[in-house]
Amino acid sequence: MADRPRICMVGSSNIDLISRVPRLPMPGETLIGSKFQMGFGGKGANQAVMAAKLGAQVSVVTKVGDDIFGHDTRKNYEKHGIDITYVLFDTERFSGVAPIAVDENTGANSIIIVPGANDGLSPEDVRAAAPAIHAAQILICQLEIPIETTLEAFRVARQKPGVMTILNPAPAAPLPDELIALSDIIAPNEVEAAMLTDMPTTTDAEATAAGRRLQERGAKTVVMTLGARGALILDGANEPVMVAAQSVQAVDTTGAGDAFIGSLAYFLGAGRTLRDAVERACAIATRSVLKTGTQISFPWREEVLDIIGE
Ligand code: RIB
Repeated sequence: MADRPRICMVGSSNIDLISRVPRLPMPGETLIGSKFQMGFGGKGANQAVMAAKLGAQVSVVTKVGDDIFGHDTRKNYEKHGIDITYVLFDTERFSGVAPIAVDENTGANSIIIVPGANDGLSPEDVRAAAPAIHAAQILICQLEIPIETTLEAFRVARQKPGVMTILNPAPAAPLPDELIALSDIIAPNEVEAAMLTDMPTTTDAEATAAGRRLQERGAKTVVMTLGARGALILDGANEPVMVAAQSVQAVDTTGAGDAFIGSLAYFLGAGRTLRDAVERACAIATRSVLKTGTQISFPWREEVLDIIGE
């Protein structure tokens, strides 16, 4: 591979505690699960690891607890060849954790996040990490750290011409106008887009209308993932583009959206056009739902050379 895409992720790291259950639990119900899996997660971490598995040079700015989960998370980044200069330790909070239930019949999930040390990642931490952000072609952020920290990361990115910013507004939260304006691409899933706009996104026409609403608020480009339906691209005033996903029998959809974002960053960093990058990112995310677990379900570069196509 000639020039490896350079990607910086400012965001979350969690430990995922995953139970496979016959169906997602109802309020007040006790359910017996069939299988338990513990693994590395956090939307930010997942996206960084996905990009690294495809071959990108990745750095992360993240905060973990000074506990076994935190130290293991740091080792996991190292194992994937990710720059750990800005894996910071919070001595007052535990590492972030995410208890997750996965429906063993459909692969659908339900996630609780307890942010812990992720809440300690501050705007000051991000300013100190400016060298990592400025060295990147692409900065990716989500909303599992304080929003003022994400905002600061995008402000720092703007100090250096040429750093592309991708905001994955997950989990959905009110977005300050400044954050929207600083985002080159906003990439929600259809549920997040519905929450952000208070509009339905069930059909392609509804999703397009909700995406246009985000553009009216200042988003230049919206890439909306639509689960098994694929993704929608709204690039400026251009006609909407629907990218269909291959139909498969999902085993576990946990982290599929993160596989998409990490891959999107990789392909854009590799010089692909937006449409081409979205098509390839959809294909990689589809591969990730065929295995259980979060990061461990993401394919390595060697497994998807047919999709990478370099
Ligand atoms: O998107 C999946 C991720 O959401 C999980 O890894 C979990 O940690 C939460 O952040």
